[in-house]
Amino acid sequence: MAGPRQSTPSVLIARRLLPAGLDRLAASCEIRKGGLDAIPERLRELAPGVAAIVSDPTVTVDEPLLEAAGPQLEIVANFAVGYDSIDLEACRRRGVAVTNTPDVLTDATAELALALTLAAARRITDAEADLRSGRWTGWDPGAHLGLELSGAIFAVVGSGRIGRRYAELVRPLAGEILYVGRRPQPDFERRLGAGRAELADALRLADVVSLHAPASPETRHMIGRDELAAMGPGAILVNAARGSLVDSAALAEALRDGSIGAAGLDVYEDEPRVPADLLDAPRCVLLPHIGSATARARDAMASTVADNVLAALAGTEPPNRVA
Ligand code: DGY
Repeated sequence: MAGPRQSTPSVLIARRLLPAGLDRLAASCEIRKGGLDAIPERLRELAPGVAAIVSDPTVTVDEPLLEAAGPQLEIVANFAVGYDSIDLEACRRRGVAVTNTPDVLTDATAELALALTLAAARRITDAEADLRSGRWTGWDPGAHLGLELSGAIFAVVGSGRIGRRYAELVRPLAGEILYVGRRPQPDFERRLGAGRAELADALRLADVVSLHAPASPETRHMIGRDELAAMGPGAILVNAARGSLVDSAALAEALRDGSIGAAGLDVYEDEPRVPADLLDAPRCVLLPHIGSATARARDAMASTVADNVLAALAGTEPPNRVA
């Protein structure tokens, strides 16, 4: 970690930290806030001399920001579990610790993926939109027909905490659970009767494919035109992980031409921009990145950020260090 610490350390909250974390940091630190619309230039203006930066998935923590902060920077504490917007190598080179907020958002995010699964299967948002707009003219045996999930084959792509929790939640519905992961997970297999599969087999076999892999160069567009073609017209794709996992142009096309059944998305490649062809695509439920948005999870995430920052500032190992 970096050199001598100021008597009252400064912390840059790049965007917004909820009181559950902010109040604890403010008790012993000088706080600088970027605000929800902070642009990189503004963050670089605020950074000089800070001992900690609190980032979130929308904040790019790169060499220029670290350089602007200076050599006393000790930690980048990410207010999220995914830390793909942080240049880990640049942090390592500078001896800056990087932390995230695992566990506390697992239930919230897995529950949201379940909600997307059900909403996509039963076309809930289309049906509600018809009702609200006055297009609903009465019970119609052929309208709003969805996909039934009881007995379905679920494929969980990415078998970390959130993927495993999603599998637990869908277990009562599922006929079979497949998982795609780098390592075999014997406990998970035993407990849920899940079977490990290659991605190509999972896509071919599953009725529901739910993505829970981290964003990385290797996972970018892991679901593209060929993978969508492999899924089939009754299948549902759910993504509550990171937008970069899915080629959104290919997904919009697959929804339009009926080569997959439905999609439920919480995340996009270039947030907050949502591609127009996805907005117009049929049988597609779109949410604004709310996976961890429960009061319980967000408070716990904020508090975890404070735990990590305060540990680093006290010269001890932050509990959730990822680099
Ligand atoms: C995360 O923690 O990575 C989520 O995307 C935030 O909701």
